[in-house]
Amino acid sequence: MRLGIDLGTTRTLVARVDRGNYPVVTFFDAEGDAHDHFPSVAAHHPERGLLFGFLALEAARTDDLRVIRSIKRRLAYPDVNTQTTMSIGGQPVPIVDVLAGFLTALRTAIIEQSSITDEFGADEDIETMIAVPAHAPGVQRYLTLEAFRRAGFDVLGVVNEPSAAGFEYTHRQPRTLNSKRTQVIIYDLGGGTFDSSLIRVDGTAHEVLDTAGNNRLGGDDFDVTLAQVALATIKRDPNTLDVRSFERLVDDSRSAKESINPQTRRLAIDVDGTYATVPVADFYAEAVSLVDRTVETMTPLIGGLDDQGQASLGDTEVAGIYLVGGASGLPLVARRLREQFGRRVHRSPYPAASTAIGLAIAADETAGFSLRDRLSRGFGVFREADDGQGISFDQIFDRTTVTGEDTFEVIRRYRPQHNIGWFRFVEYAHVDSHDLPTGDIVPFAELLFPYARELRGTDLTEVPVKRVGEGPMIEERYLIDPHGIVEVHVTDLNNNYTISRVLGENA
Ligand SMILES: Nc1ncnc2c1ncn2[C@@H]1O[C@H](COP(=O)(O)OP(=O)(O)OP(=O)(O)O)[C@@H](O)[C@H]1O
Ligand SMILES: [Mg+2]
Repeated sequence: MRLGIDLGTTRTLVARVDRGNYPVVTFFDAEGDAHDHFPSVAAHHPERGLLFGFLALEAARTDDLRVIRSIKRRLAYPDVNTQTTMSIGGQPVPIVDVLAGFLTALRTAIIEQSSITDEFGADEDIETMIAVPAHAPGVQRYLTLEAFRRAGFDVLGVVNEPSAAGFEYTHRQPRTLNSKRTQVIIYDLGGGTFDSSLIRVDGTAHEVLDTAGNNRLGGDDFDVTLAQVALATIKRDPNTLDVRSFERLVDDSRSAKESINPQTRRLAIDVDGTYATVPVADFYAEAVSLVDRTVETMTPLIGGLDDQGQASLGDTEVAGIYLVGGASGLPLVARRLREQFGRRVHRSPYPAASTAIGLAIAADETAGFSLRDRLSRGFGVFREADDGQGISFDQIFDRTTVTGEDTFEVIRRYRPQHNIGWFRFVEYAHVDSHDLPTGDIVPFAELLFPYARELRGTDLTEVPVKRVGEGPMIEERYLIDPHGIVEVHVTDLNNNYTISRVLGENA
């Protein structure tokens, strides 16, 4: 069985490969009601332990438990590594275990309680394409892949979420593309993240030209904005609400937001027992700045601003801006984008399922789609210099490095001057005019390498970095595999003493 699985911040969607069709898999909850998604949530039950998906929502309702909604969001924090824990029922649990637990529950639900349950042979493997936000830190990429494998999925590949949605666009709307208009911009506004990609399309061959995104901007922010507008409408001081009441208000705001259609004028929102009647116009007046932030984020993809200081498609090769992600279902989003970009703005008929469908297309060998993706974030290393007094920076992979085809390799060879190599790997959005990283810098991993042979096998953390004159010939080898995972090997070439790291593994 081949699937595309879109692990979302709020919802996980699954699409199946079925003889050239890519239907979305339906899940059944405890009541037997059908849903086109599996909720990306967990809850800790004092007796039953960790519950996931519909079971978690159900238990949260009946036993008044807290719903843990932040698993994927937590993965994108700059400080995350394999040891990072989440507090669950007062106990620290490694986040990768929580994610693997969630994915195991998802796998069980696919096999036992979904629209494709009857089609599984005994012990049939699930082969799946998976995705991460285009601007996911490398650790998130690594932990996501690891958790899927631990949950028993056979992972065919990891692509960037908007790249997958690009497949869905060309599968559905091939006629919008022609010899003059060869590019499409995917605008993906999810629950927790905004991603955009500029993709060049030639038949079924896709090449990501550039990406831009914000890992901390999504539909959740619209919910909080609506909650604040509701509070203001009834002149209620937010500080008088406890955490649980505020969470309930945000949940209610989310449902109200999802119910908005272009004709909706007013929303009724339950604020801690009092109904607030919120004019949609009031909500839009506040929320429009969130939409404008997404436009600002993706402006570089369009090639900057025109004479009036506006981002415009003008005579670019862009055939369309394709709106995907559940949060782009809010009518304000398409309206605001059309004000700016006109008729080349298209909404996906299945905004929330576009990525999953694209992943299923990518998993289907017979569809013949190919992808040249980009790393999206630069990767480099700070090292000690000048007797441990200074540091120097070396960019290893820039953000436009192509991934998704073969393993890509960079090699550096030199004779070090110091006793120890102290490598501090980072990822970043950009480099400045001095080739130093700027913007959203994420420390990735550290590696200490004893250049001086007498130090090998000792604890280097206590040894000061000193200049000691020319050392042995050293080789640094950096590899990015087709999934975008970076590996480093530092070797003393005279005797092959090597330290290796899969970055993300032991950050
Ligand atoms: N009809 C709708 N109108 C407005 N917003 C909607 C609608 N349906 C869903 N949403 C919003 O879409 C968001 C979820 O979108 P989606 O399922 O694409 O995100 P996700 O994949 O879980 O998150 P991410 O891609 O950020 O990891 C939520 O904020 C949800 O409230
Ligand atoms: Mg998504």
